[in-house]
Amino acid sequence: MNWKSITLLFATIVSSITVTEISAKNVKIDTQNTSLVLEAEKGKKLRHLYYGGKISENDAAALRSASGKIYSAYPDYGMITLPETAIAMIHSDGDMTLDLVVDGISSTHDNGADITTVTLKDTHYPVVVKVNYKTWKDENVMETWSEITNNEKSPVTLTRFASGYLPIRSGNVWLSSLHGAWGNETRLTEEPLTRGMKVIKSHEGVRNSRFDHSEVMFSLDGKPQENTGRTIGAALCYGGNYKLRIDTDETDSHHFFAGINEEDSHYKLGKGETFVTPPLALTWSDEGLSGVSRSFHKWGRNHRLAHGDTPRKVLLNSWEGVYFDINEKGMANMMKNIAAMGGELFVMDDGWFGVKYPRNNDSAGLGDWTVDTRKLPGGIQGLVDEAKKNGIKFGIWIEPEMVNSKSELFEKHPEYIIKPANRKAKFGRGKTQLILDMSNPEVQDIVFNIVDTLMTKYPEIDYIKWDANMDIENHGSQYLPADKQSHLYIGYQKGLQNTLQRIRAKYPDVTIQACASGGGRVNYGILPWFDEFWTSDNTDALQRIYMQWGTSYFFPAIAMGSHISASPNHQTHRIIPIKYRTDVAMSGRLGMEIQPDDMTAEEKEQTKRAIAEYKQIRPVVQFGDIYRLLSPYDEKGAASLMYVAPEKDKAVFYWWKTRAFRNEILPRITMKGLDPEKEYVVHELNRIDTKPLSFEGKSFSGKFLMENGLEIPVNHKLAKKNETDWSSRVLYLTEK
Ligand code: DGJ
Repeated sequence: MNWKSITLLFATIVSSITVTEISAKNVKIDTQNTSLVLEAEKGKKLRHLYYGGKISENDAAALRSASGKIYSAYPDYGMITLPETAIAMIHSDGDMTLDLVVDGISSTHDNGADITTVTLKDTHYPVVVKVNYKTWKDENVMETWSEITNNEKSPVTLTRFASGYLPIRSGNVWLSSLHGAWGNETRLTEEPLTRGMKVIKSHEGVRNSRFDHSEVMFSLDGKPQENTGRTIGAALCYGGNYKLRIDTDETDSHHFFAGINEEDSHYKLGKGETFVTPPLALTWSDEGLSGVSRSFHKWGRNHRLAHGDTPRKVLLNSWEGVYFDINEKGMANMMKNIAAMGGELFVMDDGWFGVKYPRNNDSAGLGDWTVDTRKLPGGIQGLVDEAKKNGIKFGIWIEPEMVNSKSELFEKHPEYIIKPANRKAKFGRGKTQLILDMSNPEVQDIVFNIVDTLMTKYPEIDYIKWDANMDIENHGSQYLPADKQSHLYIGYQKGLQNTLQRIRAKYPDVTIQACASGGGRVNYGILPWFDEFWTSDNTDALQRIYMQWGTSYFFPAIAMGSHISASPNHQTHRIIPIKYRTDVAMSGRLGMEIQPDDMTAEEKEQTKRAIAEYKQIRPVVQFGDIYRLLSPYDEKGAASLMYVAPEKDKAVFYWWKTRAFRNEILPRITMKGLDPEKEYVVHELNRIDTKPLSFEGKSFSGKFLMENGLEIPVNHKLAKKNETDWSSRVLYLTEK
């Protein structure tokens, strides 16, 4: 990950762009397998002509004649008022119209990427809008964003500022979107697009993916299919309030807009200032939903995720094991256990800090990041040393954007919190939690210093779990002036981005997890500074199949924290055997979230074997191509997916039974993504059966596995006393 290549709001504009004079001209912007074609004639509106599979120059030149209605590529409000628009503003003289026309096109290179910029100028006001398209030769994802510059004598007010717009020809178009709640994040919804407006949005301020996600897919050939059908994927890369609009009006197209949510965020842009919108990432595939996912995963690993090329360690996180009950003996014991099971990292979660206000529960201590030596007499160094003794790495939990009213930081600096000027602040978690105002540079310094102090004192800290457990629930910045209170949400994200950028500049190597009450920060806007995310506070293996399925639509397994936890599960109270819990956790970035002391010797032994086997398949899971095969949402009694190594010499196949009905015939799964010509030896991992599977050790052609598949037995062969209603399989396929 190159931190510099991430576009920040209000980033300095690249000055090396050369503006080329153009006449009537179609501009074709290609990725590896896709093309976007625009019509950019000087003095005219920028028009969208095509987005889809890669086309020839000849087809691109003749496109207009083959198209229906032609739409503006970045619709502006004012001289066109009926349809939805991407941009609107109030000029310094009160006028509310824009009339943007093409002024020039330029191209530049940024760290292996090509950026095409179309400059639009208003026909009356000195307002310039640059519409950018970023592509890579070997990726299928393209990013688009705009830069809005006010050259008027006084400030203008931006009232709408989408990152991008795409018309999608109507027909039998379906939308796949992700929605949820705490403990049930990233659930899949599929629906045909019908007349009217569909809005998917966030107004959470701090984080933005617990409820609705800013990523969607459009299936252009009817009901979404995993491995067939033309499909568009779109992800707004922004960590704050966003809004996706899909307007299906009287025209022949659905109109898709994505950008920062402008509600309660009207933005005053001073003279000479430029507002940079976050990127909207787009891809197109004719290999269905999984095809879109594969492109997003690859681009995510290569360009939008910290250390996307580095395998992730197997870890134990202390939260569900001990919650706030942190003490030296307990931590040492956990470290010894995870090391013995073959783990590589131990993470101490919440509860380790606070001197005047010890963090014994969630109502005190946030803001005071000094170790509580009553709990940890040897301090952090003692833990780092203990980890080293066990041959593992050490990680630590922080929640730096937050403060409790019971904290020394709040006592000293009540002006740092988010609250309206003339009202009391509203509390969050623990009835004392408040949010630090990240729009304030002094607060940004404080947050930077939390990490800087920890990392300077204990450079061996290998991993940080960065949590954020509150939404902005009352509007008000004590830092921003009265006429800029509507900048709070955007200012917060900008301040957070600046701080993360500073942290990464100084500490490029530390692994950082984005956690926000579970899966609240599963978003490509925040991920550039993070290596991974905590998928959900719900670790129930069955419910995780549904949540991880949705998460995998856009996010690769390398980033998806997926932990083996206790049974009964702490969130659902479901009793699930360790084999099934492990088989689900092994389909993401494997970890543990459990008190090892509560595991039986047999469970520990089984987990030890599983961790060793996971290390074997880790490159395939974390860097392979995903093929989702049978959706849990189809309620066919099982779910299945696989990862295939790019060289197609190895693959890992997962199968989980999702309910237990006697004598129900479950579908036989045909595999995908293999080389039909290659022979693969099948080997079961995490085996618990008394007898091997009938196909254990046998080899099959990729063709056979993809056309016929293997019959997976419905139950495990176990001694009577060990039988349960659960069943799952992980098969490792290696080229013969
Ligand atoms: C919420 C997170 O999602 C949990 O994993 C845990 O870190 C707690 N916060 C700690 O307070």
